[in-house]
Amino acid sequence: MQVLARRWRRKGYTIALVPTMGALHNGHLSLIKRARRVADKLVVSIFVNPTQFGPREDYSRYPRTFAADKNKCLAGGADVIFCPTPETMYPPAFGTWIEMDELTSKLEGAARPTHLRGVCTVVLKLFNIVTPDVAVFGQKDFQQGVVIKRMAADLNLGVKIIIGATVREPDGLALSSRNAYLTTVQRQTADVLYRTLTWAKEQIIAGKNRPAALVRHMTEVIELDSGFKVEYIEFADPWTLKRQKVIEPQTVVLIAAQLGRTRFIDNIIVK
Ligand code: PAF
Repeated sequence: MQVLARRWRRKGYTIALVPTMGALHNGHLSLIKRARRVADKLVVSIFVNPTQFGPREDYSRYPRTFAADKNKCLAGGADVIFCPTPETMYPPAFGTWIEMDELTSKLEGAARPTHLRGVCTVVLKLFNIVTPDVAVFGQKDFQQGVVIKRMAADLNLGVKIIIGATVREPDGLALSSRNAYLTTVQRQTADVLYRTLTWAKEQIIAGKNRPAALVRHMTEVIELDSGFKVEYIEFADPWTLKRQKVIEPQTVVLIAAQLGRTRFIDNIIVK
C-alpha cells in the first residue's frame, strides 16, 4: 500500500481514504461514493481494529463479511481495498499510542476508556500508510469525527476530514454494522432513539433551552417498554463537545444506550 501510494503521488494523483471495519452497509457506501468524487484515487480500508475494543467488548464477534464488502467497495468505485492483518498493524513490539486531552475521556471515552486512543492510533497509522489528501468518516460516530479533526489539526497531518451524513432505515434507525446483533423484537423498538432525537430537535426549535427536562423526558420515553437502558444523553457544542447547560444556537444532541448486549449511539445536530 505504501509503495502504491508513493507511485500515485509521484504521478500527481490525489488520494481519498474511507477507513472502515468492514460489515459494510449503505452508510459506508454513501461515504465511499462521497470520497470517490473528491480525489483521483480511492482507498477503502477494512480492518477490525483490536485496540479500540475493550476487554469485555465485541471484538471477536464483530461481523466479518469480506466477500460482500469487496463487492460494495468495487460498486462504490474503490481503486484499492486495503485489508491489513492485526499482526502487520500491531507487531509484538508495538508500543506507541495517540493520547488526547479530555475530549477523549468524556462521553464515549467515559464508557470505553481506551476506545478513542485505539481509534486515533489506527487512523494515524492508516493515514501514514495511505497518505490521503482527504479522509471520510460517518456522522453517527460524532465524537470520533471531532477527535479525528482535532488530531489532524494538532499534528499538522494535512489531511482534510469530511464527515458524511448518517444514513437511516425508513423508521429512522441509524445504519450500523452492530444492527446485525438485533433480534426481531429488539429491532421493532430500536427506532426509539432517533424518534426522541427528532423530538428534542423540535423542542429546541420551539424555544426550549434547558437540557435537564428534555433529558428526563427522553430517558423515560426510550426506556419505556423498549428494553433500552440509557447511558447518556448530552447537549454539547458540535465543535468542542463542551456540555451546554443552556442550549445554544448550535448544539448536538448525543445519545448512547444499551439494548441487550449491544450498545448503540446516535446524534442529531440542531442549528
Ligand atoms: O468508525 C469506524 O469504523 C472505526 O472507528 C475506524 C474509523 C475505521 C477506525 O478503526
